[in-house]
Amino acid sequence: MKVLVLGGAGYIGSHTVYELIDKGYDVVIVDNLSTGHIEAVHKDAKFYKGDIRDKEFLNNVLKTEKIDAVIHFAANSLVAESMTNPLKYYDNNLCGTKVLLDAMVENNIDKIVFSSTAAVYGNPKNIPILEDDETKPLNTYGETKLSMEKMFKWVSNAYNMRYVSLRYFNACGAHISGKIGEAHNPESHLIPTVLKSLISDNTIKIFGDDYNTKDGTCVRDYIHVTDLANAHILALEYLAKGNESNIFNLGNGVGFSVKEIIDASEKVAGKEVPVEVTKRRVGDPDTLIASSAKAKELLGWKPEFTDVSKIIETAYKWHKNNRF
Ligand code: UFG
Repeated sequence: MKVLVLGGAGYIGSHTVYELIDKGYDVVIVDNLSTGHIEAVHKDAKFYKGDIRDKEFLNNVLKTEKIDAVIHFAANSLVAESMTNPLKYYDNNLCGTKVLLDAMVENNIDKIVFSSTAAVYGNPKNIPILEDDETKPLNTYGETKLSMEKMFKWVSNAYNMRYVSLRYFNACGAHISGKIGEAHNPESHLIPTVLKSLISDNTIKIFGDDYNTKDGTCVRDYIHVTDLANAHILALEYLAKGNESNIFNLGNGVGFSVKEIIDASEKVAGKEVPVEVTKRRVGDPDTLIASSAKAKELLGWKPEFTDVSKIIETAYKWHKNNRF
């Protein structure tokens, strides 16, 4: 099967390409390199530099490459930025997806797997969170991802197309080879921020310790990027078997507080980091934990990285040797 990976130079995209190539898929990547890295592009994938909002460019790739299925990661994903620059998120995430869907319809491509997020739920009423729980995003990023899901629903209803939406919880970790990892600029996520602080002896800030959780800091469900990557391949196989469109949560089903992540990171690094508690970050829910029972049952997904220390070890290996 020939798979087009949009955003294949980004964090989760590049790890998915590594797994696809490992499993014998033929991979074509499109990435505008606005947040992705050319160094993260697998040498056995065919790479096109370009923007998914450029219909002529995208159509040309689809026509030339005779694509069987698409995996779509090409979106902006910074929650804070989405609140100060919402139109950037509407433009790239929604307008980009509209152009993509046009091009897929025109080229009769009928299968797509795409990145969604736990941010579609907002402040959940129940833990663990199920796919049909209420969706009430607290930020523009989550809102655009939810709108993308709805676009896929109505478009697949009208045309010969099926989709799988994967709602990731907290993606983290790095490829076990140490060749690729999380390389955001600027970095805002907890695990890479803690590890970078450990490496450079800088203070780590805890954004609030007065949440309604076990130790007052926010609780999240941390899931290894390679486990996420493998879920995309299972979702492709699910669609290739003729199954209907669907939405799946992806998490380990276990919650770790910010303090627990800092403690575990200090153990992995074998040193301590100065910690400062500051005020809450706007829009952080107390607790986000996934139920991934549906993905396990219908996709046959089974996360391999269930030990948070092992996850942090892979990330630490990457950050110590990060070359891009
Ligand atoms: N945190 C700190 N200090 C830091 C960085 C983060 O205390 O320096 C805290 C945050 O306040 C939060 C937790 O660590 O409580 C995790 O924060 P991240 O930024 O790593 O992750 P989020 O839970 O905010 O974001 C994740 C995904 C988003 C997604 C969101 C859904 O990365 O893409 O979950 O709520 F939108």
